[in-house]
Amino acid sequence: MSRLIVVSNRVPVPDKKGTAPAGGLAVALQSALEARGGLWLGWSGQSCPQDGVGPLRMLRDSNIDYALTDLTDRDVEEYYQGFANRVLWPICHYRLDLAEYGRREMAGYFRVNHFFASRLLPLIGEDDLIWIHDYHLIPLAAELRRQGVKNRIGFFLHIPWPAPDVFLAMPVNDEILTSLTAYDVLGFQTENDRENFADCLLRQGLGSRSDNTHFTVGARSFTARHYPIGIETEEFAKLAQRAAETSLHKRMLQSLDGKGLIIGVDRLDYSKGITQRIDAFENFLTRNPDSQRKVTLLQITPKSRSEVPEYEAMQRAVAEQAGRVNGALGTVDWVPIRYVNRSLRRPALAGLYRMAKLALVTPLRDGMNLVAKEFVAAQSEADPGVLLLSRFAGAAQELKDAVLVNPYDVEGTAEAVARSLAMPLEERRDRWKGMMKALRGNDVFSWCDTFLGDLSTGEQGAFENIV
Ligand code: F6P
Repeated sequence: MSRLIVVSNRVPVPDKKGTAPAGGLAVALQSALEARGGLWLGWSGQSCPQDGVGPLRMLRDSNIDYALTDLTDRDVEEYYQGFANRVLWPICHYRLDLAEYGRREMAGYFRVNHFFASRLLPLIGEDDLIWIHDYHLIPLAAELRRQGVKNRIGFFLHIPWPAPDVFLAMPVNDEILTSLTAYDVLGFQTENDRENFADCLLRQGLGSRSDNTHFTVGARSFTARHYPIGIETEEFAKLAQRAAETSLHKRMLQSLDGKGLIIGVDRLDYSKGITQRIDAFENFLTRNPDSQRKVTLLQITPKSRSEVPEYEAMQRAVAEQAGRVNGALGTVDWVPIRYVNRSLRRPALAGLYRMAKLALVTPLRDGMNLVAKEFVAAQSEADPGVLLLSRFAGAAQELKDAVLVNPYDVEGTAEAVARSLAMPLEERRDRWKGMMKALRGNDVFSWCDTFLGDLSTGEQGAFENIV
């Protein structure tokens, strides 16, 4: 079996395990890579002044060799906070209004990808499979090809690919699209994402399509398919079962004092629809006064990308909104919304999911959303909670037995909350069984195997036409 090299911006640094919110990508990849072994290269999360970047930090943990690099302060500002998170992120989440395009940031993005390529190059063996992840590193294969790398290289996009009218509004759309043609296999979360990508490519005249999944650009051909990412379904279910024994679980039950728990767990991000969700919850409580004092929404929202102005503004907006609802509807012994900005460890989260009657997973746009999947896996078969899920999350393509909502429709979501809380046991069990079947049929290990199966079959690529 060829060695696997994974590259992603964010890496769960082994000596900091469990201390930071790792994000869906890092958690999913770690399970997949631990099972197979390999090398994982990425950013250490540290930055330093110009010229301060030292050699790669090499670490081994479980089955994985980690190669971590620092970046300069300027790199982080231009590449991570700049082009990746102020241009690509908002555009891929349909927020053209929030995209702040600048040439300096764009140049920084390509420069850092060139730098990642130079760090990776000496580590690549002839037969290694290279798997690059997410929007931070789109140009990496083209950089490697220019430096003579002929290995099979795959790319998986964890976030949505938007409709052409949105994507093509980005000034450097051609460079980004052309970069993607340097890969051998392109993976998207949903068919819709893959079709949006194909439409962009064809509309720009950058390639031709021979069938649903095969594309040709000059002398190169590549595959583009959808590979919906999964979770460790069985392991997460066991984690949730065991969580009932923890002291946090007992304290939480005590503090709920018989009230029903509704849960929301999201990074603090405008794509997650948190303000619309709080509006919907307030609307539900106002229209159903009998439910007041009977339920509590626990919204766990670790702060994220705080240096990016749009995120900083959102932190203030959500905190104010939660405070306003609590002030307006709360009583001396009941707080409608418990708003928490810290991240919890996975066992604690698993236990809270299992305790909850309802999860509100209502992003305005999301590549997949693994919280939705983990919530389902954590439920007890005898008395499962209900998943209320945005139809704009990739997970909605697989979890068709969730209560699907349009998160922009605040009143519709409020009605769905009422319906979900009143749902009879039999319906809850039927829906849960349907969703568990989907999660068992496509867990994170099968996701990884399917992608790598496609990546490892095929010839080493021609690359002369990559400029
Ligand atoms: O899933 C999308 C993603 O950007 C991942 O790439 C990342 O690990 C996660 O969200 C958390 O974001 P960040 O690394 O910016 O904290």
